[in-house]
Amino acid sequence: MTLAKSTNTQPLFTVVIPTYNEADNIRILIPKLINILELNGFSNFEILVVDDDSPDGTCLIVREFANSDNRIRCLLRRRNKGLATAILRGIAWARGKYVVVMDADLQHPPELVPKLVSKAVSTGADVVVATRYAPGGGVEGWSRFRLLMSKTAILVSKILVPGTKSTSDPMSGFFLVKKSIIDPSLLRPRGYKILMEILEKSPYQKVEEVPYTFRNRAYGKSKLGAKTIIDFLIHAMTLSPLVRFASVGALGAVLNLTIMALLLLLGAPIDLASIAGIEISILFNFIFHEYWTFKTNLEENWLRRLWTYHLSSLGGIITTFTVMKATTMLGLLGPLAGQALGIVTGFAANYIVSLDKVWRRSILNEIKKRRISASSE
Ligand code: GDD
Ligand code: MN
Repeated sequence: MTLAKSTNTQPLFTVVIPTYNEADNIRILIPKLINILELNGFSNFEILVVDDDSPDGTCLIVREFANSDNRIRCLLRRRNKGLATAILRGIAWARGKYVVVMDADLQHPPELVPKLVSKAVSTGADVVVATRYAPGGGVEGWSRFRLLMSKTAILVSKILVPGTKSTSDPMSGFFLVKKSIIDPSLLRPRGYKILMEILEKSPYQKVEEVPYTFRNRAYGKSKLGAKTIIDFLIHAMTLSPLVRFASVGALGAVLNLTIMALLLLLGAPIDLASIAGIEISILFNFIFHEYWTFKTNLEENWLRRLWTYHLSSLGGIITTFTVMKATTMLGLLGPLAGQALGIVTGFAANYIVSLDKVWRRSILNEIKKRRISASSE
């Protein structure tokens, strides 16, 4: 063991490499990565391979390297296998101030690792994404179809998961994060697009990017198949405040119509029944948006949000009522059908205004507070 390389101080960064049957690649990657890092003046780092008991002995090879360099470790897992949990375990175990996540198969050029770290250090960014989709980046040997799929996934992610708007490549498996912004217990390893998960759930303030070219695989084959598309869609939907907002809205609409129908049955005038249905559903929606859609245990005064939510829903309220009035007066629809049409019409504007004007401010304040307490730890 070379004692000169041992260190008790916190490493500047940990490179987490998930592996499954990457013996041929890891053999090349580890010495190459160390060489590149040292040439760039980095010696205080850690390399953590998280291997799911690969039959080809990937972990044994890593441990051979580890025998002569105590900055290298292999974490062998026999349970809870899978890429997402491997990365999460790696991040949780990492001792570095920063964590770089990269693939073992040389599709992620090791030359980029010092650039990711330097960028984080020089800019103070919380996340640095190695991107294929910024000027200077690209992909090698992809069919038009694969490129289209990748770009579609990015578009879907930006619409459904607002936290991913801050990068041109939220699907990247190659990125750096500041360990202090990660709370592993908050991350759900179901989705294997860990970066998307981190961008939506972590209190980051600054994201930077470094472009690179995603190379062809030298040895072995990809483990990610068609199922990953479905996994990605489910993952994006479960992360999405838009999907939660729509679900609450749908329930609220049912409640709205139920109350209105009940009041009509009891002989209430149409206008009163309509307005009561609207107001009760607004209160119902507000409570669910507070505790679920925008996942707040926000300390900032909820009365402000209740008030601004009413204001922001005003467009929706007026739309609902007017559409109901107009369609019933013109004899096009009955009162309940008119109200239903009005509810649908008012929905889209309501989401945008709620996200931007009602909850965004509190969420940003909360993020600031969490950062301050994280940096004073
Ligand atoms: N521990 C562990 N367990 N590692 C795994 C597993 C697993 O079940 N499955 C894959 N890996 C490792 C591989 O050994 C490799 O180091 C890395 O995860 C990526 O796996 P690949 O199979 O090479 O994935 P890919 O090249 O198809 O996809 C890559 O590019 C995508 C963008 O197009 C990944 O980086 C994706 O995260 C990325 O979205
Ligand atoms: Mn790969």
